[in-house]
Amino acid sequence: MQLYNLGLLVASFVASVGAVSTFTPARPPAVPLAVKSPYLSTWLDAGSDGGNGGYLAGEWPTFWENQITGWCGLIRVDGVAYTWMGLPGSTTVDQVSLEYTSTKSIFTMNVAGAVEMNITFMSPITPNDLKRQSLVFSYLNVEVSSLDGNDHDVQVYADISAEWVSGDRTTIAEWEYGTTDDVAYHKVYRQTQLAFSEVDQQGEWGYWYWATDVSDSMTYQAGEDTVVRGQFSSNGTLENTINTDYRAISDDWPVFAFSSNLGSVSSSPVSTLFSIGLTQDEAVQFEGASAYGPVQSLWKAYFDTELDALSFFHTDFATSSSLSSEFDAKVTSDSSALGGENYVTMTSLSARQAFGATQLCGTEDKMYLFLKEISSDGNVNTVDVIFPAYPFFLYSNPEFLKLVMAPLYENQEAGKYPNDWAMHDMGSSYPNATGHNDGNDEKMPLEECGNMLIMTLAYAQLANDVDYLTQHYNLLTQWTGYLVNDSLYPANQISTDDFAGSLANQTNLALKGMIGIQAMSVIANKTGNTADAANYSTIAHDYIAKWQDLAINKNASPPHTTLSYGNWSSHGLLYNLFADAQLGTGLVPQSVYQMQSDFYPTVMNTYGVPLDTRHTYTKFDWQSFAAAISSTSTRSSFFQHISTWVNATTTNKALTDLYDTLTGDYPSTTFFARPVVGGSFAPLLVTN
Ligand SMILES: *[C@@H]1O[C@H](CO)[C@@H](O)[C@H](O)[C@H]1NC(C)=O
Ligand SMILES: *[C@@H]1O[C@H](CO)[C@@H](O)[C@H](O)[C@H]1NC(C)=O
Ligand SMILES: *[C@@H]1O[C@H](CO)[C@@H](O)[C@H](O)[C@H]1NC(C)=O
Ligand SMILES: *[C@@H]1O[C@H](CO)[C@@H](O)[C@H](O)[C@H]1NC(C)=O
Ligand SMILES: *[C@@H]1O[C@H](CO)[C@@H](O)[C@H](O)[C@H]1NC(C)=O
Ligand SMILES: *[C@@H]1O[C@H](CO)[C@@H](O)[C@H](O)[C@H]1NC(C)=O
Ligand SMILES: *[C@@H]1O[C@H](CO)[C@@H](O)[C@H](O)[C@H]1NC(C)=O
Ligand SMILES: *[C@@H]1O[C@H](CO)[C@@H](O)[C@H](O)[C@H]1NC(C)=O
Ligand SMILES: *[C@@H]1O[C@H](CO)[C@@H](O)[C@H](O)[C@H]1NC(C)=O
Repeated sequence: MQLYNLGLLVASFVASVGAVSTFTPARPPAVPLAVKSPYLSTWLDAGSDGGNGGYLAGEWPTFWENQITGWCGLIRVDGVAYTWMGLPGSTTVDQVSLEYTSTKSIFTMNVAGAVEMNITFMSPITPNDLKRQSLVFSYLNVEVSSLDGNDHDVQVYADISAEWVSGDRTTIAEWEYGTTDDVAYHKVYRQTQLAFSEVDQQGEWGYWYWATDVSDSMTYQAGEDTVVRGQFSSNGTLENTINTDYRAISDDWPVFAFSSNLGSVSSSPVSTLFSIGLTQDEAVQFEGASAYGPVQSLWKAYFDTELDALSFFHTDFATSSSLSSEFDAKVTSDSSALGGENYVTMTSLSARQAFGATQLCGTEDKMYLFLKEISSDGNVNTVDVIFPAYPFFLYSNPEFLKLVMAPLYENQEAGKYPNDWAMHDMGSSYPNATGHNDGNDEKMPLEECGNMLIMTLAYAQLANDVDYLTQHYNLLTQWTGYLVNDSLYPANQISTDDFAGSLANQTNLALKGMIGIQAMSVIANKTGNTADAANYSTIAHDYIAKWQDLAINKNASPPHTTLSYGNWSSHGLLYNLFADAQLGTGLVPQSVYQMQSDFYPTVMNTYGVPLDTRHTYTKFDWQSFAAAISSTSTRSSFFQHISTWVNATTTNKALTDLYDTLTGDYPSTTFFARPVVGGSFAPLLVTN
């Protein structure tokens, strides 16, 4: 942020490294701090490629794309100021531990041996409570207690900079201070709103709120960073003044601060709660059944005003916290039972990231879940990005899977997509769900037809919703026609792994098509279309018999499927097989499952099994799919290698899904913070 900080970087870094923190269940590449939507996405870099190892004090938190979102925490103990978050310059506290769960990142700090701090960043996940889930807000709770048996005089401080409101640091920010229902807030925003626009991936519209409790011990201030932080450090209180010289984000860096005077602190913990969030009345534009236009954020369906939403959120901490803890406990116990701590490392790090790519929109009667293909290209509701994440949606609440497919069905059923296969995405650039009236979307026909059929049946089965299948029967039939044409001998095309290039006769892609046809047979059966059910089942079984001859290298030791038909020297992760198990379609013989499960350990590298024989890189999500349908020992081996990678990679970006199995490094400048990590929940959806 400021030049003068650079000189202090070394000193602060050394101070941090001096105290060694533990990391439970592992040290993530980046720690989620406030991660709730494509625009509320602030992390702490950990991996050594740019991060400091995962220490909250000593570096600035960043937006997922890596630009700083200034967030500063100070504490004053007996008149001496220390930094607990960010890099403002003062001596840092000693970090003792970081623990993360699905919804929380909890840091424990030791301040000069005198007091302990528990600092909890919680981005709530409430899958069965869409009112709460619709709020694009996150909590920061700071608890302090005495460590040494003496009482200490303590004040806690936290601020945000205007870097949260725009990706352009020269843009003019504006701000105001107010209170509502005993909640004090700074409201910060781009002076010139640019609706539905992004700069460096940050949203350029809407209003940011940074809030705490109104109380006698609370003071506030908005002004230049060094001035405001200096005031707190030297005095312990702020001046209750707002500098209204609205200016560029980087012009004397305006910050928005609160201080809480905790007074004399004993061994009983005392806490201060902060909330941070974004309100946008309208979050996306959408080409649905009616004309292209804005869609309201879902929170608008529950709250009349932004302040109502803010006040509800901030005063809801106890309930929200207990709902989030319920979700945490479920993920932890389910994951632990299946795969121990290694698997807990994977799922609990993925949950906020998966939801963090989504935005709930619409009304209580007509909801949508919009999803941004973060970092890879910003497409909206990309079908083959939803597919790897579908286990997470199914696990948390199958309704989400329906809501994320809703825009795709609505657009295509309104006749707005000219091709006879399934559309790849809802638009090239989030938040503009323009559709593709010209049919010129990224062409991934077999992939997306298979994905839509599989996910549609997956939702309907778990939600027991046959009407949904009837409603979409015509389009599903059309897509099945495409699969019948193309899945036995797939034309030269790309699959979801488009970065690996295009190829004809892809074994794994063909399998997806065949499972899709069998899924349609089940759909036809459930909807009373007996003849169709029989026809599709016959075709799928005929294809899968042929596929076994075309795709399996029976002479290899051990035998395995190939990457593409007839290429006997090739192999790859047969991750689409997961859908056959998850849906219970029973199309593929158990011998194929067993064969692959026996094969994977023979090609396991330091950090996992390569995606295929073309490269040494692999995918976090697809390995999770493969693990889901492997024997207990192969599954454990996957979990162990993947979690070792999570803990060891030097990457400092939010959990990447594409990484090298030999170096643990990261072969791309994209593929991080993506919702596809929700695929880590796949093993929880099948019962072997
Ligand atoms: C993570 O790596 C650190 C440092 O190498 C090691 O001490 C720790 O045991 C590892 N944790 C896990 C869960 O692998
Ligand atoms: C921090 O959390 C631990 C574990 O829950 C607890 O024992 C301790 O009292 C807490 N300390 C503070 C300052 O809240
Ligand atoms: C979305 O469309 C609006 C025009 O309606 C445009 O101003 C904006 O830049 C677009 N957003 C993106 C991310 O392309
Ligand atoms: C802090 O500032 C206030 C207002 O200027 C002053 O009254 C108070 O004495 C100062 N406190 C300390 C500890 O410097
Ligand atoms: C079976 O389905 C295929 C593909 O949709 C179609 O071409 C064929 O006519 C169907 N056969 C029967 C008997 O319905
Ligand atoms: C399948 O192939 C037939 C024959 O080439 C063609 O008429 C039909 O349109 C194709 N169906 C789809 C959905 O692509
Ligand atoms: C696909 O495989 C079949 C069977 O091996 C072969 O006849 C066909 O030529 C292959 N297609 C392409 C495009 O290579
Ligand atoms: C669906 O499948 C069941 C079990 O195979 C069968 O008994 C039933 O007749 C089928 N229903 C339809 C409508 O095809
Ligand atoms: C067979 O697979 C290998 C490894 O993936 C690849 O390098 C080679 O080009 C493939 N050969 C053919 C004929 O496709």
